[in-house]
Formats: sequence, structure tokens, C-alpha cells
Amino acid sequence: MSEPTRADFRAVIDPARLRAEYETRGLDAADVDPDPVVQFRRWFDEAAASAIVEPHAMTLSTVDASGRPQARVVLLRGLDERGFAFYTNRESAKGHELADAPHAALTFAWLPLHRQVRVTGPVTELPDAASDAYFALRPRGAQIGAWASAQSAVLPDRAALDEAVARVREGFGDGDIPRPPHWGGYAVKPEVVELWQGRPNRLHDRLRYRRDGGRWVVERLAP
Ligand SMILES: Cc1cc2nc3c(=O)[nH]c(=O)nc-3n(C[C@H](O)[C@H](O)[C@H](O)COP(=O)(O)O)c2cc1C
Repeated sequence: MSEPTRADFRAVIDPARLRAEYETRGLDAADVDPDPVVQFRRWFDEAAASAIVEPHAMTLSTVDASGRPQARVVLLRGLDERGFAFYTNRESAKGHELADAPHAALTFAWLPLHRQVRVTGPVTELPDAASDAYFALRPRGAQIGAWASAQSAVLPDRAALDEAVARVREGFGDGDIPRPPHWGGYAVKPEVVELWQGRPNRLHDRLRYRRDGGRWVVERLAP
């Protein structure tokens, strides 16, 4: 058997072909896993196997103290019984928002596959051990950045950030860099999960999972 060629590879991940396939196949309650996390993993694996850049990028929406929504992209760094995990600075704007209102919405937009996933639920801080373990895996430059950047604070100019980085780098020398106390993980526990599959004529498929007691109910929503 011959090695696959570049063209073969492109055919496998060609987003237009995949998208057409998913649009044709659509999405039905009978075909999805009864557990939305299992189903999410399926879709995530398909997104990761496609040409999508950063399939783990998700928009994290929170609510600020005045009730206004705030949204930004973060990276999904884990998914287990605690929920969808991400890491950040707990003293950042989002950190303060989550301390005051510990609920969030996540949105994954896998546009080449014409898919969107929305997740909402309560947010908890991950235990220190999990944050330590993840921080230790980060490249040294990112570890230094976590100490040097007071995320979301106003800076006078770029030089102020560069100077803070240089000070932190010098302070740690060649030694190990521990996790800053203000840096750590959060998990969004899914309460509602919606899968959206683009279909022709804007008659898209939307399936929403919601918790009903101890089980998940799947409902179809109008597009
Ligand atoms: C692709 C992408 C991935 C990002 N990943 C993270 C992340 O995992 N954690 C994080 O704190 N910020 C991440 N950011 C930066 C955030 O979008 C945001 O600028 C930052 O967290 C400050 O947000 P806040 O001021 O609302 O707290 C990412 C941005 C992009 C565009």
C-alpha cells in the first residue's frame, strides 16, 4: 500500500467537503449520545481532525457587577466530571466577575464544519493541585508572563509590561517558577448544552440538552 499523498490528506480534512457532509446528514436526537459531554467529545474530535485552527478556543461569557455581559476567548484545557476547564488570572476582570456571579456561558464556533456548541452552567475554582499541575506544564515564558502581567489592569505603555517581565525573569533566575497564587483554573459544569448544525435554507438543526433531576433531556429547538 502506498503512502497517502498531500492531496489525499487534503481530501480528508477539506472543510467544504466535511461541511457538506454534515449539512446533509443533519442532527437528530436519535443519533446523539444521551450524555452531552460524550457527544461534545465526539464533535470536538471531529473538529480537531479537521483543518480548524484552535478547536479548543471558546468564548467565555460572564456577567459583570452592573449586570452587563462580558465575553472573551479562552482555551479549553480539560473536560471531566467537574466540567469544562480553563485557566486564567483570578484577579482579572473575568476572575472578579466569576467571584461575584459564578455562572458562565461557553461558545464553540467550528465554522468550517458549520457547527456551534453552547454550554451554560455554574463555575467553580479548580483545586490548587490541578492548577499547580497545569501551570508546571506551561512554557517558561508563559509562567513568567503569569507573574508579570496584572491581567486586565491599565498599563501606561508596552514598556511597563516588558520591564515587569524582565524583573520577574531576573528574580527567578534559573530556578523553578511556582504558580502565582492569583493564577488558576475554573470549571464550568454543564447544565444546558446546545448543539447547532447548519442545514440548507437556514433550517438548521438545534438540539438542546438540559438536566431534569438526575437525567438529561434532549429537545429540538426551532432554528
Ligand atoms: C485564541 C485565544 C485564546 C486565549 N486563551 C486564554 C486563556 O486560556 N486564558 C486567559 O486568561 N486568556 C486567554 N485569552 C485572552 C482573553 O481573551 C482575554 O483577553 C484575557 O483573558 C483578559 O480577559 P478579561 O479582561 O475579560 O479578564 C485568549 C485569547 C485568544 C484570542
